[in-house]
Parts: sequence; structure tokens; C-alpha cells
Amino acid sequence: MILTVKKFEINYKRNDLYQVGIFGEKLSHSLSPVFQNVAFKYCQIPALYEVWEFSKDELHERVNLLRKPNSLGANVTIPYKELAYDMVDDLDETAKQIGAINTIVNNSGKLKGYNTDVSGFIRSLKEIASFDPTGKNVLILGAGGAARAAIFGLVNEKVNSITVANRTVDRAVKLINDFGVDQEIFSILSVYDEKISEISLRADLIINATSVGMKHSSMEFESLLSPDQIPANCVVYDIVYNPLITPLLKNAQEAGAEIIQGLWMLIFQGVDSFELWTGKSAPVQNMYQKAMEHFKSLG
Ligand code: ATR
Repeated sequence: MILTVKKFEINYKRNDLYQVGIFGEKLSHSLSPVFQNVAFKYCQIPALYEVWEFSKDELHERVNLLRKPNSLGANVTIPYKELAYDMVDDLDETAKQIGAINTIVNNSGKLKGYNTDVSGFIRSLKEIASFDPTGKNVLILGAGGAARAAIFGLVNEKVNSITVANRTVDRAVKLINDFGVDQEIFSILSVYDEKISEISLRADLIINATSVGMKHSSMEFESLLSPDQIPANCVVYDIVYNPLITPLLKNAQEAGAEIIQGLWMLIFQGVDSFELWTGKSAPVQNMYQKAMEHFKSLG
């Protein structure tokens, strides 16, 4: 981190335009350039965040291009998070644990991989809801990639228990088998099991990591939990960010619970990436505001 700061101070006078961007396959709707470019501007860093769409066979070459002196690194998204993991020189501990990276930092030609989906998720809980996960009981709906990142973060924070409720129970079993230690903290059930109320009413934190409630999906107007299944003293986090207030979040508000919008997970993974690339504090509120404006302009 300190090295990165130094690099900036030395090179800043040369008025180079630093390059950074996102690697992925279908990126036309990516919000990352919107809020990252605002952050660079706010911090007066001469960098441009671009969208880099390409196919799998180009990934290796693209990763190597990140070693150039004017490159800060990149974000990596679906479907390259696991592949890029094998192409960097060094890995941060969390990235090693989860086996996937979403951020690459160029440190004088050496590339280090990080997973800010995990760190950003935990940071959003702490900074948006002042929620300290240690010792807490968590219910997660879903067992895909988003659930996996959330669970890695929560296990590292030493939560008391995690119940994974998924439509396909086998997928939840497979997911928790990836966690070598702490198996006793996990339980699993079907997301449609009646017993879900018992668990949800005892939860300190409920996370929706399914696509239920997502705009333009067949479940757009659905919530996996009704207001009477949500305790007033819990935090409800919906990883779906379109719409900003999902049916689950509406139900949580009706129950009197605190809510965290999915947009925060997206913003905070970006906040952590920005800070790794630049060594500077990210202007979180500006990034969020800009993302919201952009989002609303889409209708
Ligand atoms: P992501 O990487 O965003 O987590 P994913 O891996 O496709 O995306 O996971 C989507 C999650 O939403 C899964 O948990 C999926 O359940 P299954 O594992 O049973 O497929 C869940 N999901 C999607 N549609 C759903 C529905 N109609 N009802 C309940 N769960 C649903």
C-alpha cells in the first residue's frame, strides 16, 4: 500500500494518464466505470477506468499488459475470477482462501490478486449498518457465487452460526464443504422449508444472495421472506441491487428491521479496489451518489 502511494507521488508530476479497468465478458451495464472515474476525479488522480470486454483466450495476454508502468491494475468479473487467480504473481490471504480474485494490483510490474467482494461485503456491513458480525447468527438465502463471498467474509469475522437456505439443497451442501474448518457453525435447509421462520426470527443478519426480486426476472415481485418472518432487531441485506429497494427490503422495512441495499456491496468492492490501486481513501459517498444517479437515469 505504502509503495503504491509513493509511486503516485513520484509519477504524478509526469502527468501520465494511468490506466485501470474491468475484465469481463458482458459488461455493457457495468456501473464500475461510473463510480470509479468519479473517485479518481475527486482524488485528482489522472487515471481513466475503462471497460475491457474480451474472450477467454485473450485473458493471459490482457493480464500481462497490466504490468506496464502506467497501469494501476484491473477489476476482474464473471467469468474470469477463477482463471485470473492463476495468472498473477502473488495473492492476498482472502483471495487464496476463496480461490478467486476480482482485483489485480500492479506493483512495479508484479501483479497481486485480491478479493474485494469478500472484504467489501464485510466493510459495507460495518460502515453502513454499524454491524459487527462477530458472534452473530446469520441466515443466507442462496448458495451461488455471491453467497460464497459473503460466507467467506463472515467465517473470517467469526460469526456464531450460518444457515444456508437454498432452492437446491445439494448446492448448499457442496458450498459449505469448501469450508474445511468450522463445519459446526453451518446448517442447511431448503429455502421453501417451513422451518425457515424459526431460523429467520432468531437471525441477527439476513442476506438474500439469490436472484429472487431482481428486475426483469420471473421472480421480480417476490420475496423469500414475509414481514412476519423478519425480526425487528435484525439487519437485512439484499445483494440484488436492481431495484434499489427489493420486495425483501420492503418487507424488512415493514417489519422494522434495518436494511442494506445491494448497491452497497457493489460500491464497497470498488472502494476497496480503489484504495488498493491508489493508497488513498475512496470518496465513498460520492461514488454511491454517482452510481445512484446513473442508475436512476436508466429508469
Ligand atoms: P450468483 O453468482 O449471483 O450468486 P448464481 O450462482 O446463479 O448467481 O446463484 C443464484 C442463486 O439464486 C442460487 O442460490 C439459486 O438457487 P439454485 O442454487 O437452486 O439454482 C438462487 N435462485 C435463482 N432463482 C431462484 C428462485 N426462483 N427461487 C429460489 N432461489 C433461486
